Amino acid sequence: MEFSELIKKRQSCREYSAQPVEGEKIEQLIEAVRLAPSASNSQPWKLIFVDQPELREAVARATFSPAIRFNAFALQAPVIVVMTKERPKVITQIGGRLKNKEYPLIDIGVAAAHFCLQAAELGLGTCMIGWFQEQRIKDLLHIPAKTEIGLVITLGYSRAPLREKVRKQAQAMSGFNRYPL
Ligand SMILES: Cc1cc2nc3c(=O)[nH]c(=O)nc-3n(C[C@H](O)[C@H](O)[C@H](O)COP(=O)(O)O)c2cc1C
Repeated sequence: MEFSELIKKRQSCREYSAQPVEGEKIEQLIEAVRLAPSASNSQPWKLIFVDQPELREAVARATFSPAIRFNAFALQAPVIVVMTKERPKVITQIGGRLKNKEYPLIDIGVAAAHFCLQAAELGLGTCMIGWFQEQRIKDLLHIPAKTEIGLVITLGYSRAPLREKVRKQAQAMSGFNRYPL
């Protein structure tokens, strides 16, 4: 598949079939994240694949509440992936403080993009979820107190049709030689 086609194929999937995800595909997803670039090559992430049904349901339930239900679709996903944000190398910590940049947050965004694009190539749907009860998921998965969760990603075979992308016009978000107005 051409990369430009893959970018269009990747979309946030909020409807999953119950079909399990093959172990070899999960290995390919791990490899896609393992090879992602990061500031000072710190690789400040860990992935936890949650597929045990009761635990998976409990993690899915930690992404929504009775009042705010937009992530309730997470209950359908046969796998939920939790990506932690780990402490980067000391040089990256110093650089981040000096330049007022949170490099690990940028890094996990890049890694998550690798994950979701690789999944799309393998015919799998994903949705990055940034709205979740962090402490509840940390307790469920025995994540150390000092470690933050960066993202939750639902994973599985999609039942949703391909949608047109809703995006800003190119002129509104890019420019040559000066800031685009
Ligand atoms: C950091 C981040 C957090 C997100 N959090 C959620 C979320 O909590 N729930 C959800 O349904 N989608 C979430 N999304 C998906 C976005 O809504 C989606 O990427 C955007 O609307 C563009 O649509 P597309 O992914 O289908 O191209 C998140 C995406 C990112 C990158």
